Amino acid sequence: MSIIKSEAPVAIITGAGRGLGREHALALAKAGYNLVINDLGAANDGSGSDASPAAQVVAEIEAMGQKAVVDGSDISNWQAAGQLIQKAVDTFGRLDGLVNNAGILRDRTLANMTEEDWDLSIAVNLKGTAAPMHHAAAYWRELSKTTGAPVNAAIVNTTSASGLYSGTGQANYAAAKAGVASMSIVAARELARYGVRVNVLAPAAVTRLTEGVMKTEELRQKLNPAFVAPIVVYLLSDLASDINGRVFEMGGGTVMAVDMPQPKSGLKHSNGIWTTEQLADVIPGLLDKLNTPMNPGEAMKLMMTAAEIN
Ligand SMILES: NC(=O)c1ccc[n+]([C@@H]2O[C@H](COP(=O)([O-])OP(=O)(O)OC[C@H]3O[C@@H](n4cnc5c(N)ncnc54)[C@H](O)[C@@H]3O)[C@@H](O)[C@H]2O)c1
Repeated sequence: MSIIKSEAPVAIITGAGRGLGREHALALAKAGYNLVINDLGAANDGSGSDASPAAQVVAEIEAMGQKAVVDGSDISNWQAAGQLIQKAVDTFGRLDGLVNNAGILRDRTLANMTEEDWDLSIAVNLKGTAAPMHHAAAYWRELSKTTGAPVNAAIVNTTSASGLYSGTGQANYAAAKAGVASMSIVAARELARYGVRVNVLAPAAVTRLTEGVMKTEELRQKLNPAFVAPIVVYLLSDLASDINGRVFEMGGGTVMAVDMPQPKSGLKHSNGIWTTEQLADVIPGLLDKLNTPMNPGEAMKLMMTAAEIN
């Protein structure tokens, strides 16, 4: 049952109490969305909870004249993620967009990593994206079947340069964020038939999560989280109705389109069976044809030196 009758589009943003999620929420409110603001209020490492950041963002959105409700649940909880989707529908009567943004860091080298470091990173960053996507997908599939028409909805999932280019010292985070990117392409293909688009964003911004490594005032000014939000508004909007299953990196005034891994070179054996020695002969030549693997630092350099446009 709908509490607020509204033709305004409705979106859910996870981890919207601070940093990038808060900016996404403010930008979407400005674009006319009513919003569900999810945030557990956890520390960078996923521990603890605090209801005040999400409540503060709801108050800011209401001051802008839009409607917003708080959801303080842990997004890695499958059932709570279902209740989050239901909350949007019960409160506003519809759901048009889902921005999976909540994330944590528990950086350790593999040799130092604890089981808890691994489990919590995978839980929040990967399962915390899969769970709301699952429930939203089921809701939109049902709606599309009932109405007999595509639903015209969109999802933006948050990956990271670390997941795309393999950040050293972040095996748990890189694995989760690479999983987010790959899972999003699967979702984009599966959900297209219901009229749901799924795209992926690797943001770069100085926030509580990154201020420990991005320390200078220059970086703080260049990498303002508010500079990333326009791509989220774009990807949820009809302006991006042809954009599905794509990966973007954005920050510091630069937007980049990112290819997922593609095969680049291959050799077929005439009788179908390679010997170990033959493989040792040909593999260096196959590798020569590949691009040098990028790392997150090089990607950041590229971001800072990309071609300029007014
Ligand atoms: N800041 C960057 O440069 C950068 C780079 C790459 C990727 N990212 C990703 O962007 C997203 C936002 O990061 P940020 O920099 O704004 O960090 P942030 O710490 O400012 O915000 C993350 C928010 O997620 C919330 N959260 C954590 N665990 C949660 C849970 N279990 N359920 C619900 N909410 C939870 C936190 O309370 C916090 O408010 C994250 O997914 C992060 O991995 C950020």
